[in-house]
Amino acid sequence: MSNLLDKKNIELINVFVFGEKIGVLGSDKNKGDSYFLFDKEFLNKGIYKNLFPFVLKRTDQVQVFKNQNNKTFKGLPSVFADSLPDDFGNAIFNKWLSYNNIKASDLTPVHQLAYLSNRGMGAIEYFPGKNLDYSEGINLQKITRILKNVIKNKKNVFEDSLNSNALLNIFKLGTSAGGARPKIIVSENKVTNKLIPGDVEFSENYYHYLVKLNIGEDTYNRERVEYGYSKLVKMAGIDMMPCDLTEGHFITQRFDRVGGKKRHILTATGISGLDYRNAEHSSYENLFEIANYINLPQNDIERLFRRMVFNYVFHNIDDHLKNHSFIYDEKKDCWGLSPAYDINYSLDALNKWVGAVHSLSLNGKRKGIELEDFLGLAKKYAIKKPLKIIEDVESVVFEWERIAYEIGVEDKVIDKISEDFKIYSEKKNRNRRNINKR
Ligand SMILES: Nc1ncnc2c1ncn2[C@@H]1O[C@H](COP(=O)(O)OP(=O)(O)O)[C@@H](O)[C@H]1O
Ligand SMILES: [Mg+2]
Repeated sequence: MSNLLDKKNIELINVFVFGEKIGVLGSDKNKGDSYFLFDKEFLNKGIYKNLFPFVLKRTDQVQVFKNQNNKTFKGLPSVFADSLPDDFGNAIFNKWLSYNNIKASDLTPVHQLAYLSNRGMGAIEYFPGKNLDYSEGINLQKITRILKNVIKNKKNVFEDSLNSNALLNIFKLGTSAGGARPKIIVSENKVTNKLIPGDVEFSENYYHYLVKLNIGEDTYNRERVEYGYSKLVKMAGIDMMPCDLTEGHFITQRFDRVGGKKRHILTATGISGLDYRNAEHSSYENLFEIANYINLPQNDIERLFRRMVFNYVFHNIDDHLKNHSFIYDEKKDCWGLSPAYDINYSLDALNKWVGAVHSLSLNGKRKGIELEDFLGLAKKYAIKKPLKIIEDVESVVFEWERIAYEIGVEDKVIDKISEDFKIYSEKKNRNRRNINKR
């Protein structure tokens, strides 16, 4: 049966979740296809039945994945492609490979998962992994300086008085999480406040953070604005992990490391196989359908609705399917919605691209959304008091100027961003007078 996986051109890696071997993943070097075979013992145990609700069947037959060889999935089933880094992590990965004289074109995605091994976000682990032992302390300034060079694609990036260990550290810290913006994962000892690399160590003695670095490449500090948005998000009744601003960098606690344990998380793209880069897949209706399919409780459906309204009111157009995630509850073998993340004013406020529209459509539209569009979706998914939710979120619009001013966002940026806020409910004129003076 597993003969299919015994061919020379197929590279294999074992997949573990919560310390259990769940199966073997194979990737075909020539064709770009991939294969997954569940571990028989794991199937027989009858545990964690809903780990991968859409894309993997619980069968002892090899499952073949064809036509997945695009930028998002790299030939892999979406649940494992979700472990791979996106634009930023790939840029770091490629730099590190070229420094080590490894040709990126020689590597299959299975190789890349071996480099990731047990350092990835969420709870999926890949073995045998590549040994990347070295770790040193964290110096945010040094990391920022190196990353700035990597992003600028400077030729002399590796001559920057750095040794290969420092580079290895950056590679480890910067290639675990997805997303396009520069970021690293770090952990802080709760008692000593010492920062250590956040890739391997996880325990109750640490806070685990994702740090989105401001490397000074934009026309203003977008991480500062993200911090301002995180305050608006919370005021609008949306749950997010605790966030802070450190030396101009945006820092947030990780929801996939809780109480000293790894939690299994998947993005909406990862769980469903719908490609966040494909406009045809990208709609709020699809996101709600995924949520329904995995039996999210009604309270989570309402949380999702509030987030959608926030994204439209505050013009967070980067609301794609990888910016929504789900968390698995291994005790109950069921799924819930993760805390919100990556909510920001996503355009360059000082150089706006006028044609920019939301990644996720609503009622077939990516702009020109009206109150009725929200209400229609609310009706379909039995959301109670949708108008109240919309008005709640809209009332926070009038806090923006004060919050942004207090945390040091420049006046021009504050104004440019607020030009794009939209009020959908009829109350708009009544509320205008509440604008906070600064
Ligand atoms: N607080 C968090 N805890 C755990 N994972 C997170 C958290 N915030 C973001 N992530 C994961 O990291 C990825 C990158 O973060 P994100 O804020 O989306 O960065 P970017 O702005 O580069 O897209 C997300 O797609 C998500 O999977
Ligand atoms: Mg993102």
